[in-house]
Amino acid sequence: ESEQRAQALLKQMNLDEKVGQLNQSAGIQMPMLGSEKPDTLIEQGRVGSILWLTNVKEINRLQHIAVEKSRLHIPILFAFDVIHGYRTVFPVPLAMASSWDPGVEEQAQHFAAQDARAAGIEWTFTPMVDIARDARWGRIVEGAGEDPYLGKAMAAAQVRGFQGDQLGPDSVLVCVKHFAGYGAADGGRDYDSSYIPEELFRNVYLAPFYAAAKAGAGSFMSAYMDLNDVPASGNKWLLTDILRNEWGFKGFLVSDAFAVGSLQVHGYAKDPSDAAYKAITAGLNMDMASQTYTKNLAQLVKDGKVTEAQIDAMVLPILAAKYQLGLFDHPYADESKVEATLNRPEGLTLERKLAARSMVLLKNDKQTLPLKTSIKKIALIGPLGDSTHDIEGGWTVEGLFGNGSKSHPVTLLAGLKNKLPNAQISTVSGPELSRVFPGLLDQLAGKKVLPPPTPQETADWIAKVKAAASDADLVVAAMGEIASMSSEASSRATLDLPGIQQQMLEAAVATGKPVVLVLLAGRPLDIRWPAEHVPAILEAWYPGTEGGNAIADVLFGDVNPGGKLPVSWPRVAGAEPLYYNHNLTHEPEDRPQFTSRYWDIQSKPLYPFGYGLSYTTFKFANLKLSQASIGTDGSTQVSVEVTNTGSVAGDAVGQVYIHQRWGSASRPVRQLKGFQRVALQPGETKTLTFPLGKDELEFWSPQTKNWVVEPSTFDVWAGEDSTAPLHAELTVTQ
Ligand code: IFM
Repeated sequence: ESEQRAQALLKQMNLDEKVGQLNQSAGIQMPMLGSEKPDTLIEQGRVGSILWLTNVKEINRLQHIAVEKSRLHIPILFAFDVIHGYRTVFPVPLAMASSWDPGVEEQAQHFAAQDARAAGIEWTFTPMVDIARDARWGRIVEGAGEDPYLGKAMAAAQVRGFQGDQLGPDSVLVCVKHFAGYGAADGGRDYDSSYIPEELFRNVYLAPFYAAAKAGAGSFMSAYMDLNDVPASGNKWLLTDILRNEWGFKGFLVSDAFAVGSLQVHGYAKDPSDAAYKAITAGLNMDMASQTYTKNLAQLVKDGKVTEAQIDAMVLPILAAKYQLGLFDHPYADESKVEATLNRPEGLTLERKLAARSMVLLKNDKQTLPLKTSIKKIALIGPLGDSTHDIEGGWTVEGLFGNGSKSHPVTLLAGLKNKLPNAQISTVSGPELSRVFPGLLDQLAGKKVLPPPTPQETADWIAKVKAAASDADLVVAAMGEIASMSSEASSRATLDLPGIQQQMLEAAVATGKPVVLVLLAGRPLDIRWPAEHVPAILEAWYPGTEGGNAIADVLFGDVNPGGKLPVSWPRVAGAEPLYYNHNLTHEPEDRPQFTSRYWDIQSKPLYPFGYGLSYTTFKFANLKLSQASIGTDGSTQVSVEVTNTGSVAGDAVGQVYIHQRWGSASRPVRQLKGFQRVALQPGETKTLTFPLGKDELEFWSPQTKNWVVEPSTFDVWAGEDSTAPLHAELTVTQ
């Protein structure tokens, strides 16, 4: 029905109005966009969508112009990056993926959708489903990590969370990004070229995009970088041949911001007109912010280079989405309800629960954790212990573009105080982390830059750490990265704890007091020293608004951690890219001499993919296949028992991995093909079952250039992480 209404409307539109629907204008004033307000353009029907605007009054004002004053009364589609919550900020996506529970993503994004829609945002640039095998890449924080199978589950869950069963006046349209291969940027440098062979592209990088499309995602965003030399936003093979023709995608595509204009910067388009031509003929519906379509498309049609039918095909799905979202019937946000919706208290309860569920316990020697509530004196050291901004991470709706957030984040200091109101907590923050990297961004913005700490300042901070730690029963170190270090354009060449954090940690450990390191970061860091010397390490990522309370819940055992790593944890930046699902080499690492390894460092990860401890222990046993031999079109069922062998209740994540021993191509040493998070009481046993059939066994073969299940012997493992030893064999016959 939406499509029929869209067709009927399209028939009434002139060329300028059609091109208008393909234009997304920026709702904030930016130097590169000039200072004009979009009012006149909207009245002329030349703006289809607006992004980067969160002021609901302004949203309604502009919508009013579109609906009341433009000739055809077509509402504007308002878009924003609602990545991990709106006012209530949920854990960053990498953290949510660490829950290994798609329900976490679905619940968080459903809540965020309700907030966003109430506030006038109808379209979100989420989920980011880019596979990231390199922690140097700053945007690793926004995705589900390195694995296509986990990535697929998390992608589909986010689509369900935002869009619900179908788009309507209560849901938010998703935009799956960045299509595709953005996470494979050379050297982990954001925006750099990606070179990905087709088999790797299809088997790994495209997998979560496909899952999102199949889950009903209504829009996709083309990436900034060039993929195998052809920029994604003008890449017909990607946008049309694969997405529309192979996958049957019926929604629409928007470029990343300014990416149509930068087809010229890439050296792909001769001039802006050529950029518009290349993007539209590649199948890109909407131009985000660059105005390249607005300024060139009509002329291209007049010159006969692009047909009006091509333009119509690009406009139609945008209009259809507006009908599906109910914008023609409900174009305005109800301003009287916005604040009440955004301040729903149940959001904080949910956030606290999901944040704790997303944390990963990396180390816990001698049962340092959980902590006892009888502790009297705590020294909280490190720059992130009381940082309201960094507990929520980057990409917060209200924090973007300096709007100022109205949320009240609970820092770790506040969380510890809430948990132990009578304890004495002394804090030693150390120098601000923004002083560590001498302010490249601030310099660009013309701000005054504070220099890194002097040796004397450093010595003073270390002395303070020693004094506070010596006087305390326990040291909690809140360390990692400030949120802006893990985001867009925030790649790093090193992965160490920035600044003097490790020196502070060493000083605390030297006092002999028990030390717990709480990591707040958007990527794995080089923690070789802490992994050896600090008895307990909790990866909290950026846990969100209730982060401090959630961390305290885990530290004191109110919540038993059950999160697992969605990435292989490198020892050092030089080991990147690092991923568990690599192929076998000519000389695999575990052979004696001429092996694939580094001289100076073990190339195996510090912590493997899928790893995470609990306050209890689990035993996996009785791995069985319902059939040990199947045909290429058959399926079998894997079952494995998991028992809680400790003395407290906890969550286990059963994981199934496979390896195809031979075939038309080398296959990864292990591939995740099933997982399930289950709660177990002490002594309780559950049997987990996982299907193994075409979906799990097939791969895209570079030799046959299609998806195949090949006759071979398959290894099957089940257990707690990607090194699980429990093994069975599956024979697949012709
Ligand atoms: O959605 C983002 C994208 O991820 C990076 N560039 C800007 C877009 C809109 O904010």
